[in-house]
Amino acid sequence: MQTKALYTGSFDPLTNGHLNIIERAAKLYDELTIGIIVNPSKKAMFSLEERKNMIEETLRHLDNIRVDCFSGLLANYVNDNGFNVVVRGLRAAMDFEYEIQMAQMNARLFDKRVETVFLMTDPGYSFISSSMIKEVYSLGGSIEGLVPETIQRNMDRCKR
Ligand code: COA
Repeated sequence: MQTKALYTGSFDPLTNGHLNIIERAAKLYDELTIGIIVNPSKKAMFSLEERKNMIEETLRHLDNIRVDCFSGLLANYVNDNGFNVVVRGLRAAMDFEYEIQMAQMNARLFDKRVETVFLMTDPGYSFISSSMIKEVYSLGGSIEGLVPETIQRNMDRCKR
């Protein structure tokens, strides 16, 4: 059976923590789709199209990756597109409660073939989030080593 996996998030911006999960998941599954979603409750730095372009550029070294944007219910997108795995990253205990609730609700909504699979975030990145990166950066702090080079370049361009 071909394994079609999905890794979702707002990726505003993609961080090295996300990248670490993506590189590991890409080894586990035949095809991995990065599904970018608009989260209306978050103030965005980059448009969906900008995020898609930056992610495609960052992931050029991986040959089983697709990048897509979607909106609405995650389960509809998963069921309609034939995914059999949804990958989630767990950074710390604080992620667990939210993730288990979401996984259990999604288990009711997903087609029977679909499983949510958790990968533990590399400890070197377990303290970062996209909002924290944006806040530190906007206040002049260094985010070196926390985001891929393409993202850093685009953040610098945005600031000018
Ligand atoms: N490295 C760095 N940061 C990470 C990370 C990692 N490995 N894993 C998670 N994060 C951070 C992200 O940067 C993000 O930070 P932010 O809040 O500062 O932006 C935060 O953790 C949350 O990430 P994530 O859960 O991946 O993204 P999200 O909250 O933007 O979207 C969805 C999560 C897409 C799964 C969820 O919103 C969804 O399913 N939406 C569709 C609607 C739906 O179906 N709802 C019902 C769900 S049961």
